[in-house]
Amino acid sequence: MAIRKVGVIGAGLMGHGIAQVAAQGGCDVVVCETQQGFLDKGLERIDKSLAKLAEKAKEKGQAFDAAAVRARIRGTLAKTDLADCDLVVEAIVEDLDVKKKLFAELGAIVKKDGIFASNTSSFPIAEMAAVSGRADRFVGLHFFNPVQLMKLVEVVRTDKTNEDVVAQARAFGEACGKSPITCKDTPGFVVNRLLVPYMADAMKLAERGDASIPDIDTAMKLGCGYPMGPFELTDYVGLDTTLSILEGWVKRYPNEPAFQIPKLLSGLVKEGKLGRKSGQGFYTWQGDKRV
Ligand code: CAA
Ligand code: NAD
Repeated sequence: MAIRKVGVIGAGLMGHGIAQVAAQGGCDVVVCETQQGFLDKGLERIDKSLAKLAEKAKEKGQAFDAAAVRARIRGTLAKTDLADCDLVVEAIVEDLDVKKKLFAELGAIVKKDGIFASNTSSFPIAEMAAVSGRADRFVGLHFFNPVQLMKLVEVVRTDKTNEDVVAQARAFGEACGKSPITCKDTPGFVVNRLLVPYMADAMKLAERGDASIPDIDTAMKLGCGYPMGPFELTDYVGLDTTLSILEGWVKRYPNEPAFQIPKLLSGLVKEGKLGRKSGQGFYTWQGDKRV
């Protein structure tokens, strides 16, 4: 079975990008949200991104049919509109109970041979698969932010995932213009297991007063050639999402030093400073630009 029709649940930071790259890959896409306002915002983001990509392609003299891509995407507030999808990718809030509730519901809605995927940053894929009623047709499909530009997708297999489903998920990732890697269902998979403790360590370094936040960012950019320093990157990912990742891990592995939550992070989230999306995190943001 080839993946032709894709459902994406959540049109936030990640979901809008996943819907877009799937449509760029030639799939028909239905993107599902909880409220019309969130759906409209996600579709607006897609329009903006497609306009940017079309502008860049024009500069390079390449063809890019933004209107044709956009025509393959439609929004809905009804999960029942996902019933005939070949693949459903979940990109909702990083909360395991909410995700499990969603997959239990989807299991009864989506056709039996449809594949389910979660874009979770940190939760066990097997736990969501177990409640979905189709553990053998369930993978992690972990895209990176910004989805339109980042070239990696992690394909996460559990002990129960069918090999054919892994192959189809990899092929879908490639159709989206990504280079897939395959990995086991372990906390943070490959990238976040290395990246999130590094971000948390940078915060602990700043808490100790070893160096200032801008200096730590400059150090990692110029010293390691990273495109963003750890604080700018945390603002980009979302402080709430980063905190949810660490909270999930520390609950399961309370004695792992790498997963301990920096006070700086929980304090800022409590104040509603969530990073770029709220206009304030470690830095101040105006739209997509750091002030
Ligand atoms: N769609 C279309 N175009 C976009 C875009 C989007 N979503 N986002 C940015 N662009 C465009 C910009 O408008 C810009 O266009 P101009 O050149 O015309 O101005 C161009 O792409 C380049 O963008 P920037 O000017 O911001 O330039 P950059 O070279 O700094 O690239 C970046 C941006 C790719 C985000 C780069 O800074 C980067 O790689 N940052 C690190 C990102 C990263 O590590 N992501 C992973 C986060 S962890 C994660 O995702 C996993 C998790 O579970 C938490
Ligand atoms: P976000 O808050 O920007 O978007 C989540 C969206 O899901 C919201 O628009 C919300 O309205 C919607 N939603 C919530 N419950 C829903 C439901 N039951 N049905 C339909 N829509 C629902 O979050 P995000 O940053 O896009 O993260 C989404 C997922 O992707 C999380 O699991 C996160 O860990 C993961 N992820 C995030 C990043 C990142 O850099 N932010 C990177 C990779 C993976």
